[in-house]
Amino acid sequence: MQKIKTSAPGKLMLFGEHSVVFGQPCLVTAVDRRLSITIEENGSDFFVLDAPDLGLRAYSKNIKDLAKENLPKEVSFIETCYRLFLDRYPQQTTIHVFSKNEFTSSYGLGSSSASTVAFAKALSDFYQIPLDNDQLFELCYETVLKVQGVASGFDIASAIWGGTIYYVTPDQKTKRSKIVEPIAVKNLPFLVGYTGIKADTATLIRMVQNLQNEKPNLVDGIFAEITVLVEQAKRALIEENWPLLGSLMDQSQSLLRQLQVSSLELENLIEASQKAGALGAKLSGAGGGDCMLALTAREQRESVTQAISEAGGKIIDVAMNAEGVRLEKI
Ligand code: PMV
Repeated sequence: MQKIKTSAPGKLMLFGEHSVVFGQPCLVTAVDRRLSITIEENGSDFFVLDAPDLGLRAYSKNIKDLAKENLPKEVSFIETCYRLFLDRYPQQTTIHVFSKNEFTSSYGLGSSSASTVAFAKALSDFYQIPLDNDQLFELCYETVLKVQGVASGFDIASAIWGGTIYYVTPDQKTKRSKIVEPIAVKNLPFLVGYTGIKADTATLIRMVQNLQNEKPNLVDGIFAEITVLVEQAKRALIEENWPLLGSLMDQSQSLLRQLQVSSLELENLIEASQKAGALGAKLSGAGGGDCMLALTAREQRESVTQAISEAGGKIIDVAMNAEGVRLEKI
């Protein structure tokens, strides 16, 4: 019986969170913690999912009822993606899916996007429907929008293309297509500190949307400033101009603070790393918790690591610029 295994990487937002949802660019890098999906034929009308990392064992659903009602969060991305895939490419056989995660979903490193992308790739190989990266993106982004309502798709693009990319979301209204531009970076000397608090991305996006409705001039002004920083950061990354990049991170953080998406725990880790000699520090992702990044020269790495830990953070040891979605040997 045919068996397919794929994997996709997690991600870290470097610059441009929140404004990317509103059509501005961002910079994101893929990390070397991966989520793998294995698919085999099930031989009944039932789709079965085993995801022990998410506390799911032998979750099953009649194929006719896929993604019909509100789904538990753990299964929503995979089940919705399967429904959308079958609507486009009807199939006779159903599948048993096994998911394995190298990182806990609490860190906010993109386990939902990695699982959606690894699953979509596995479906395309299992059913022999060749999908290129753009088609994979379209299927996965539609899945995320159905589940979450609003999202830029930066994490989906990162899981598909891997590496470090400059990304602009597709625009439904203007029909402008997305931009995915790989950036040639060799080093990304960031430390990643986890606050211990799980943030809810959709809630934070809505908070920013509400703020924008209330104070459009203020928020649009902040987005415009973030966009300037993203463009400068892109060049600084390529040129390895670390002092400049650090200062751009600090400026970003101050704008994100004005958007009210930072938190006490993030601020504590950011301040501690700056005091210990980091070149710059900022939150990464939606804010409210999850992770922060500190840019450090080699000489300061140890002192900044210690400072983040003493301030209550957990250092997450990840390599960046990792490979995008791929087929795995079984
Ligand atoms: O919380 P994360 O790591 O999934 O990042 C969210 C980034 C946002 O820009 C706030 C949302 C998005 O979809 O781009």
